[in-house]
Amino acid sequence: MRIIGTGRAHPSKVVTNAMLEQFLDTSDEWIKERTGMSERKIITSEKLEDLATEASILAIKDAGIEPTDIDYIICSNVVNEYVTPGLSCIVQGKIGAKCACVDVNAACSGFIYALDMADDRIRSGKAKNILVLAAEEPTRMVDWSDRSTCVLFGDGAGAVVVTGGKGLIGSRLTTVSKTDCLYYVRKLEPTPYITKEENAGPMYMNGREVFKTAVLSSSFDIKRLLDKAGLKPTDIKYYLLHQANMRIIEAIANQLQLDMSYFPHNVDYCGNTSSASVALLLDELHRSGKLQNGDKLVMSAFGAGFTTGACIIEWNK
Ligand code: UT7
Repeated sequence: MRIIGTGRAHPSKVVTNAMLEQFLDTSDEWIKERTGMSERKIITSEKLEDLATEASILAIKDAGIEPTDIDYIICSNVVNEYVTPGLSCIVQGKIGAKCACVDVNAACSGFIYALDMADDRIRSGKAKNILVLAAEEPTRMVDWSDRSTCVLFGDGAGAVVVTGGKGLIGSRLTTVSKTDCLYYVRKLEPTPYITKEENAGPMYMNGREVFKTAVLSSSFDIKRLLDKAGLKPTDIKYYLLHQANMRIIEAIANQLQLDMSYFPHNVDYCGNTSSASVALLLDELHRSGKLQNGDKLVMSAFGAGFTTGACIIEWNK
Protein backbone atom coordinates (compact mmCIF):
# COMPACT_ATOMS: atom_id res chain seq x y z
CA MET A 1 0.00 0.00 0.00
CA ARG A 2 0.94 3.62 -0.25
CA ILE A 3 -0.51 6.72 1.38
CA ILE A 4 -2.31 9.04 -1.04
CA GLY A 5 -4.01 11.49 1.33
CA THR A 6 -3.83 12.76 4.90
CA GLY A 7 -5.98 14.89 7.18
CA ARG A 8 -6.27 15.96 10.81
CA ALA A 9 -8.57 17.74 13.23
CA HIS A 10 -7.90 19.20 16.67
CA PRO A 11 -10.28 20.39 19.38
CA SER A 12 -10.44 24.18 19.66
CA LYS A 13 -9.62 24.49 23.39
CA VAL A 14 -5.94 25.08 24.12
CA VAL A 15 -4.92 24.33 27.71
CA THR A 16 -1.57 25.79 28.70
CA ASN A 17 0.63 24.68 31.58
CA ALA A 18 -0.23 27.95 33.34
CA MET A 19 -3.93 27.02 33.19
CA LEU A 20 -3.13 23.68 34.87
CA GLU A 21 -1.19 25.50 37.60
CA GLN A 22 -4.48 27.13 38.61
CA PHE A 23 -5.99 23.91 39.95
CA LEU A 24 -3.09 21.43 40.30
CA ASP A 25 0.03 21.32 42.43
CA THR A 26 2.22 21.55 39.33
CA SER A 27 4.32 24.08 37.46
CA ASP A 28 5.09 25.09 33.90
CA GLU A 29 8.73 24.39 34.71
CA TRP A 30 8.10 20.79 35.87
CA ILE A 31 5.87 19.92 32.92
CA LYS A 32 8.22 21.41 30.32
CA GLU A 33 11.33 19.86 31.84
CA ARG A 34 9.85 16.35 32.34
CA THR A 35 7.67 16.11 29.23
CA GLY A 36 8.51 18.91 26.77
CA MET A 37 4.84 19.95 26.75
CA SER A 38 3.74 23.59 26.82
CA GLU A 39 0.09 23.13 25.92
CA ARG A 40 -2.41 20.56 24.74
CA LYS A 41 -5.71 20.69 22.80
CA ILE A 42 -8.65 19.29 24.73
CA ILE A 43 -12.20 18.33 23.83
CA THR A 44 -14.89 20.61 25.31
CA SER A 45 -18.08 20.83 23.24
CA GLU A 46 -16.77 18.80 20.30
CA LYS A 47 -17.58 15.15 19.81
CA LEU A 48 -14.71 12.86 18.91
CA GLU A 49 -16.77 11.50 16.02
CA ASP A 50 -16.89 15.02 14.53
CA LEU A 51 -13.10 15.43 14.75
CA ALA A 52 -12.72 11.96 13.20
CA THR A 53 -15.12 12.93 10.40
CA GLU A 54 -13.32 16.22 9.70
CA ALA A 55 -9.92 14.49 9.52
CA SER A 56 -11.37 11.80 7.22
CA ILE A 57 -12.97 14.28 4.83
CA LEU A 58 -9.68 16.19 4.55
CA ALA A 59 -7.74 12.97 3.87
CA ILE A 60 -10.21 11.85 1.20
CA LYS A 61 -10.10 15.28 -0.49
CA ASP A 62 -6.31 15.23 -0.36
CA ALA A 63 -6.35 11.79 -2.01
CA GLY A 64 -8.49 13.21 -4.83
CA ILE A 65 -11.18 10.57 -4.50
CA GLU A 66 -14.82 10.48 -3.35
CA PRO A 67 -16.09 8.95 -0.08
CA THR A 68 -17.90 6.33 -2.18
CA ASP A 69 -14.50 5.22 -3.56
CA ILE A 70 -13.51 4.08 -0.05
CA ASP A 71 -14.07 0.35 0.31
CA TYR A 72 -12.95 -0.24 3.90
CA ILE A 73 -12.57 1.90 7.02
CA ILE A 74 -10.29 1.01 9.91
CA CYS A 75 -10.41 3.25 12.96
CA SER A 76 -7.93 3.09 15.80
CA ASN A 77 -9.60 4.19 19.02
CA VAL A 78 -9.32 3.42 22.72
CA VAL A 79 -12.38 5.24 24.10
CA ASN A 80 -15.18 7.46 22.89
CA GLU A 81 -18.74 8.01 24.07
CA TYR A 82 -19.94 4.87 22.29
CA VAL A 83 -18.86 1.39 23.29
CA THR A 84 -20.80 0.21 20.28
CA PRO A 85 -21.22 0.88 17.36
CA GLY A 86 -17.60 1.41 16.45
CA LEU A 87 -16.41 4.91 15.65
CA SER A 88 -15.62 3.74 12.10
CA CYS A 89 -19.35 3.00 11.57
CA ILE A 90 -20.32 6.48 12.78
CA VAL A 91 -17.73 8.14 10.53
CA GLN A 92 -18.84 6.04 7.54
CA GLY A 93 -22.37 7.48 7.80
CA LYS A 94 -21.16 11.04 8.30
CA ILE A 95 -18.84 11.08 5.29
CA GLY A 96 -21.26 9.17 3.05
CA ALA A 97 -19.08 6.11 2.41
CA LYS A 98 -20.57 2.69 1.76
CA CYS A 99 -18.19 0.01 2.92
CA ALA A 100 -17.28 -2.39 5.71
CA CYS A 101 -15.93 -0.77 8.85
CA VAL A 102 -13.96 -1.95 11.84
CA ASP A 103 -12.40 -0.42 14.96
CA VAL A 104 -9.11 -1.59 16.44
CA ASN A 105 -7.80 -0.98 19.91
CA ALA A 106 -4.06 -1.48 20.19
CA ALA A 107 -3.78 1.55 22.52
CA CYS A 108 -1.24 4.16 21.40
CA SER A 109 0.18 1.78 18.77
CA GLY A 110 -3.22 1.45 17.07
CA PHE A 111 -2.55 3.60 14.01
CA ILE A 112 0.43 1.44 13.00
CA TYR A 113 -1.63 -1.75 13.59
CA ALA A 114 -4.42 -0.28 11.45
CA LEU A 115 -1.99 0.60 8.63
CA ASP A 116 -0.60 -2.93 8.75
CA MET A 117 -4.14 -4.37 8.51
CA ALA A 118 -4.87 -2.07 5.59
CA ASP A 119 -1.76 -3.30 3.79
CA ASP A 120 -2.88 -6.93 4.26
CA ARG A 121 -6.31 -6.16 2.86
CA ILE A 122 -4.89 -4.38 -0.15
CA ARG A 123 -2.35 -7.14 -0.82
CA SER A 124 -5.12 -9.75 -0.68
CA GLY A 125 -7.09 -7.81 -3.29
CA LYS A 126 -10.06 -7.39 -0.95
CA ALA A 127 -9.93 -3.59 -0.99
CA LYS A 128 -8.65 -0.82 -3.24
CA ASN A 129 -8.93 2.40 -1.21
CA ILE A 130 -8.88 2.25 2.59
CA LEU A 131 -9.50 5.05 5.07
CA VAL A 132 -7.29 4.51 8.11
CA LEU A 133 -7.98 6.84 10.98
CA ALA A 134 -6.92 7.29 14.57
CA ALA A 135 -9.22 9.29 16.82
CA GLU A 136 -8.58 9.61 20.52
CA GLU A 137 -9.78 11.46 23.59
CA PRO A 138 -7.45 10.24 26.36
CA THR A 139 -8.32 13.34 28.41
CA ARG A 140 -11.58 11.50 29.26
CA MET A 141 -9.70 8.58 30.82
CA VAL A 142 -7.65 10.40 33.43
CA ASP A 143 -8.37 11.75 36.90
CA TRP A 144 -8.12 15.53 36.59
CA SER A 145 -6.98 15.83 40.20
CA ASP A 146 -3.99 13.53 39.53
CA ARG A 147 -1.10 15.73 38.39
CA SER A 148 0.98 12.71 37.37
CA THR A 149 -1.37 11.79 34.50
CA CYS A 150 -3.79 14.57 33.55
CA VAL A 151 -1.12 17.05 32.43
CA LEU A 152 0.15 14.58 29.82
CA PHE A 153 -2.74 14.14 27.41
CA GLY A 154 -4.51 15.90 24.56
CA ASP A 155 -7.22 14.90 22.07
CA GLY A 156 -7.34 14.77 18.29
CA ALA A 157 -7.94 12.79 15.11
CA GLY A 158 -5.67 12.00 12.18
CA ALA A 159 -6.52 10.10 9.00
CA VAL A 160 -4.89 8.73 5.87
CA VAL A 161 -6.19 7.16 2.68
CA VAL A 162 -4.15 4.25 1.35
CA THR A 163 -4.29 2.46 -1.97
CA GLY A 164 -2.23 -0.15 -3.79
CA GLY A 165 1.43 0.66 -4.41
CA LYS A 166 4.96 0.29 -3.20
CA GLY A 167 4.86 2.45 -0.09
CA LEU A 168 5.37 0.05 2.79
CA ILE A 169 8.96 -1.11 3.08
CA GLY A 170 8.50 -3.07 6.29
CA SER A 171 6.48 -3.31 9.45
CA ARG A 172 6.84 -4.90 12.86
CA LEU A 173 4.14 -5.40 15.49
CA THR A 174 4.75 -6.81 18.97
CA THR A 175 2.58 -7.45 22.00
CA VAL A 176 3.70 -8.60 25.42
CA SER A 177 0.87 -9.05 27.90
CA LYS A 178 1.87 -6.64 30.63
CA THR A 179 -1.36 -5.22 31.90
CA ASP A 180 -0.31 -3.78 35.25
CA CYS A 181 1.70 -0.73 34.15
CA LEU A 182 -0.96 1.08 32.11
CA TYR A 183 -4.72 0.44 32.20
CA TYR A 184 -8.15 1.99 32.40
CA VAL A 185 -11.04 -0.07 33.75
CA ARG A 186 -14.72 0.79 33.25
CA LYS A 187 -17.68 -0.73 35.14
CA LEU A 188 -20.35 -2.37 33.01
CA GLU A 189 -24.08 -2.23 33.74
CA PRO A 190 -25.16 -4.24 36.79
CA THR A 191 -27.19 -7.44 36.33
CA PRO A 192 -29.20 -9.40 38.90
CA TYR A 193 -26.62 -12.21 38.55
CA ILE A 194 -23.23 -10.55 38.99
CA THR A 195 -21.43 -11.85 42.07
CA LYS A 196 -17.80 -11.05 41.18
CA GLU A 197 -16.06 -8.01 42.57
CA GLU A 198 -15.68 -5.25 39.98
CA ASN A 199 -13.46 -2.22 39.82
CA ALA A 200 -13.60 1.02 37.93
CA GLY A 201 -11.45 4.09 38.04
CA PRO A 202 -9.41 6.51 36.01
CA MET A 203 -6.34 5.56 34.04
CA TYR A 204 -3.50 4.04 36.06
CA MET A 205 0.00 4.49 34.71
CA ASN A 206 3.38 3.59 36.12
CA GLY A 207 5.13 6.38 34.24
CA ARG A 208 8.71 5.30 34.92
CA GLU A 209 8.04 1.71 33.86
CA VAL A 210 6.28 2.82 30.66
CA PHE A 211 9.11 5.26 29.94
CA LYS A 212 11.82 2.57 30.13
CA THR A 213 9.84 -0.02 28.17
CA ALA A 214 8.95 2.56 25.51
CA VAL A 215 12.53 3.63 24.85
CA LEU A 216 13.89 0.08 24.72
CA SER A 217 11.10 -1.43 22.63
CA SER A 218 10.76 1.42 20.15
CA SER A 219 14.49 1.67 19.45
CA PHE A 220 14.71 -2.13 19.15
CA ASP A 221 11.79 -2.20 16.67
CA ILE A 222 13.37 0.55 14.58
CA LYS A 223 16.82 -1.08 14.51
CA ARG A 224 15.31 -4.43 13.50
CA LEU A 225 13.28 -2.83 10.71
CA LEU A 226 16.25 -0.86 9.37
CA ASP A 227 18.48 -3.96 9.43
CA LYS A 228 15.87 -6.04 7.65
CA ALA A 229 15.43 -3.38 4.95
CA GLY A 230 19.20 -2.91 4.58
CA LEU A 231 18.92 0.76 5.51
CA LYS A 232 21.10 2.99 7.69
CA PRO A 233 19.44 5.28 10.28
CA THR A 234 20.49 8.29 8.15
CA ASP A 235 18.67 6.87 5.08
CA ILE A 236 15.43 7.88 6.81
CA LYS A 237 14.25 11.46 6.35
CA TYR A 238 12.03 11.63 9.44
CA TYR A 239 11.23 9.42 12.43
CA LEU A 240 7.61 9.94 13.46
CA LEU A 241 7.52 8.57 16.98
CA HIS A 242 4.54 8.28 19.28
CA GLN A 243 4.36 11.68 20.96
CA ALA A 244 4.22 10.63 24.61
CA ASN A 245 7.08 12.63 26.05
CA MET A 246 9.89 14.71 24.52
CA ARG A 247 12.38 12.90 26.75
CA ILE A 248 11.32 9.54 25.31
CA ILE A 249 11.85 10.92 21.79
CA GLU A 250 15.28 12.26 22.77
CA ALA A 251 16.24 8.94 24.37
CA ILE A 252 15.28 7.02 21.21
CA ALA A 253 17.23 9.53 19.06
CA ASN A 254 20.18 8.89 21.35
CA GLN A 255 19.85 5.11 20.96
CA LEU A 256 19.89 5.55 17.18
CA GLN A 257 22.77 8.07 17.40
CA LEU A 258 20.82 10.63 15.42
CA ASP A 259 20.35 14.33 16.05
CA MET A 260 16.92 15.75 16.79
CA SER A 261 16.46 17.16 13.26
CA TYR A 262 15.30 13.65 12.27
CA PHE A 263 12.52 13.73 14.89
CA PRO A 264 9.68 16.13 14.15
CA HIS A 265 7.36 16.54 17.12
CA ASN A 266 4.02 17.96 18.17
CA VAL A 267 4.01 16.78 21.78
CA ASP A 268 4.96 20.34 22.77
CA TYR A 269 1.60 21.78 21.66
CA CYS A 270 -0.67 18.70 21.32
CA GLY A 271 0.31 16.61 24.36
CA ASN A 272 0.06 12.83 24.13
CA THR A 273 -2.85 12.14 21.78
CA SER A 274 -2.53 8.35 22.01
CA SER A 275 -2.75 6.56 18.66
CA ALA A 276 -3.65 9.81 16.87
CA SER A 277 -0.22 11.34 17.51
CA VAL A 278 1.69 9.80 14.59
CA ALA A 279 -1.21 10.41 12.18
CA LEU A 280 -1.44 14.06 13.27
CA LEU A 281 2.27 14.50 12.82
CA LEU A 282 2.25 12.93 9.35
CA ASP A 283 -0.48 15.30 8.19
CA GLU A 284 1.35 18.27 9.65
CA LEU A 285 4.54 17.37 7.78
CA HIS A 286 2.70 16.74 4.53
CA ARG A 287 0.66 19.95 4.65
CA SER A 288 3.68 22.06 5.53
CA GLY A 289 5.45 20.76 2.41
CA LYS A 290 8.16 18.85 4.26
CA LEU A 291 7.66 15.54 2.44
CA GLN A 292 8.93 14.78 -1.05
CA ASN A 293 8.23 11.68 -3.10
CA GLY A 294 10.89 9.07 -2.40
CA ASP A 295 11.42 10.17 1.23
CA LYS A 296 11.66 7.27 3.61
CA LEU A 297 9.85 7.68 6.92
CA VAL A 298 9.80 5.58 10.06
CA MET A 299 6.67 5.53 12.21
CA SER A 300 6.95 3.92 15.63
CA ALA A 301 4.56 3.77 18.58
CA PHE A 302 4.10 1.96 21.89
CA GLY A 303 1.29 1.72 24.39
CA ALA A 304 -0.86 -0.21 26.82
CA GLY A 305 -0.85 -3.94 26.34
CA PHE A 306 2.16 -3.61 26.10
CA THR A 307 1.97 -3.11 22.35
CA THR A 308 4.47 -1.73 19.89
CA GLY A 309 4.12 -1.04 16.19
CA ALA A 310 6.68 0.31 13.77
CA CYS A 311 6.95 0.63 10.02
CA ILE A 312 9.12 2.13 7.31
CA ILE A 313 7.23 3.79 4.50
CA GLU A 314 8.26 5.49 1.32
CA TRP A 315 6.32 8.69 0.70
CA ASN A 316 4.87 8.33 -2.78
CA LYS A 317 1.75 10.41 -3.00
O1 UT7 B 1 1.06 6.96 25.65
C1 UT7 B 1 0.96 6.30 26.88
C2 UT7 B 1 2.28 6.01 27.38
N1 UT7 B 1 2.68 6.90 28.45
C3 UT7 B 1 3.90 7.36 28.50
O2 UT7 B 1 4.67 7.14 27.61
C4 UT7 B 1 4.38 8.08 29.74
C5 UT7 B 1 5.78 7.65 30.07
N2 UT7 B 1 6.28 8.25 31.26
C6 UT7 B 1 6.59 9.57 31.36
O3 UT7 B 1 6.43 10.30 30.41
C7 UT7 B 1 7.18 10.07 32.66
O4 UT7 B 1 7.47 8.97 33.49
C8 UT7 B 1 6.23 11.06 33.42
C9 UT7 B 1 6.14 12.37 32.67
C10 UT7 B 1 4.85 10.44 33.54
C11 UT7 B 1 6.78 11.35 34.81
O5 UT7 B 1 8.11 11.85 34.73
P1 UT7 B 1 9.25 11.25 35.69
O6 UT7 B 1 10.46 12.00 35.41
O7 UT7 B 1 9.27 9.76 35.45
O8 UT7 B 1 8.71 11.64 37.12
P2 UT7 B 1 8.31 10.69 38.34
O9 UT7 B 1 7.06 9.93 38.05
O10 UT7 B 1 9.50 9.93 38.74
O11 UT7 B 1 7.97 11.77 39.44
C12 UT7 B 1 8.97 12.64 39.98
C13 UT7 B 1 8.30 13.60 40.95
C14 UT7 B 1 7.38 12.91 41.96
O12 UT7 B 1 7.54 13.59 43.21
P3 UT7 B 1 8.46 12.93 44.37
O13 UT7 B 1 7.85 11.60 44.62
O14 UT7 B 1 9.84 12.86 43.76
O15 UT7 B 1 8.31 13.91 45.46
C15 UT7 B 1 5.99 13.19 41.44
O16 UT7 B 1 5.03 13.21 42.47
O17 UT7 B 1 7.46 14.52 40.23
C16 UT7 B 1 6.18 14.57 40.85
N3 UT7 B 1 5.18 14.89 39.85
C17 UT7 B 1 4.86 16.17 39.53
N4 UT7 B 1 5.29 17.34 40.00
C18 UT7 B 1 4.77 18.46 39.46
C19 UT7 B 1 4.47 14.05 39.06
N5 UT7 B 1 3.68 14.76 38.24
C20 UT7 B 1 3.91 16.07 38.50
C21 UT7 B 1 3.40 17.25 37.97
N6 UT7 B 1 3.86 18.42 38.47
N7 UT7 B 1 2.50 17.28 36.97
